[in-house]
Amino acid sequence: MKRTLAIIGAGRVGRGLGRRLAERGWTVGPVVSRSPRTARAAARAISGGRPLQALVPEILRAHLILIAVPDDAIASVARRLAKVAAHEGLAGHVVLHTSGAVPSTALAPLARRGASVASMHPLQTFAPGVRPRLEGVTFAIEGQTSACRLARSLAHELGAKPVLIHPEAKALYHAAGAFASPHLLAALAAGAAMLEKAGFRERDARAALLRLARQTLENYERLGAARSWTGPVSRGDRATIRRHEGALKKLPREFLAAYRALTNLQLRLLRSAAR
Ligand SMILES: NC(=O)c1ccc[n+]([C@@H]2O[C@H](COP(=O)([O-])OP(=O)(O)OC[C@H]3O[C@@H](n4cnc5c(N)ncnc54)[C@H](OP(=O)(O)O)[C@@H]3O)[C@@H](O)[C@H]2O)c1
Repeated sequence: MKRTLAIIGAGRVGRGLGRRLAERGWTVGPVVSRSPRTARAAARAISGGRPLQALVPEILRAHLILIAVPDDAIASVARRLAKVAAHEGLAGHVVLHTSGAVPSTALAPLARRGASVASMHPLQTFAPGVRPRLEGVTFAIEGQTSACRLARSLAHELGAKPVLIHPEAKALYHAAGAFASPHLLAALAAGAAMLEKAGFRERDARAALLRLARQTLENYERLGAARSWTGPVSRGDRATIRRHEGALKKLPREFLAAYRALTNLQLRLLRSAAR
């Protein structure tokens, strides 16, 4: 039974982790999704596993059950799977979910059936059709002892860096990830839309901003934030900030609201770095 895996939630993370674990010799059993199409596509992407649309007893043959459904569906999947396991129980099984914000207590119905439960969140972005790097990526882990032990060894197996996190700190941890990925993308996509308004072609707008963003990331990596700040906030060029705001008033209101919020955040970070 060791190194057998069932996956519930055959989306970006279920496929991404399933594929990597299959490559490292894990036997993938059921790959469960709501729609048959998603489940079949996932089994193809993983190069293994049996596509299924329902929580069936076959799942209980796997030592490790990985739940990679959207955050809001985790608790209901756990409740339904606990019903499937009502007869056999789940002693000796490990169940992990992959949410960064939801604590492992969402899996309590499965723990009551005897499973060891934890959450294991890769601090990485999984986009469709992309194979994200996992080497050196932080995997935040919390939960029961033997599930955490397995989660840590999975992280090591994937070349990632396991970090134990307090369940109450998860929301803050996950919000930090939101700043570094989807919010960063929002900033870049908004910038590209603004350049297009300023007359750039879409492709040129993206390329121009990517050069700037990459140098910013490189500076941040080498120098840290305190020595990387540039731009009108760091120079105290208030008239320039007012010019920016004037131009942004012509765009949908979220552009100006986000600009002002980030300006204020920058001021706070600059002040605390100066102390
Ligand atoms: N994407 C990321 O970058 C990322 C990174 C780290 C962690 N995570 C976490 O990983 C988890 C999955 O995220 P994701 O981005 O992989 O989501 P996703 O791409 O939207 O995939 C979710 C999958 O779950 C299936 N599903 C939804 N409700 C279900 C249910 N009740 N029973 C069974 N399957 C169900 C969906 O199936 P159908 O398509 O058939 O509806 C879909 O295949 C979330 O907890 C998320 O916070 C995501």
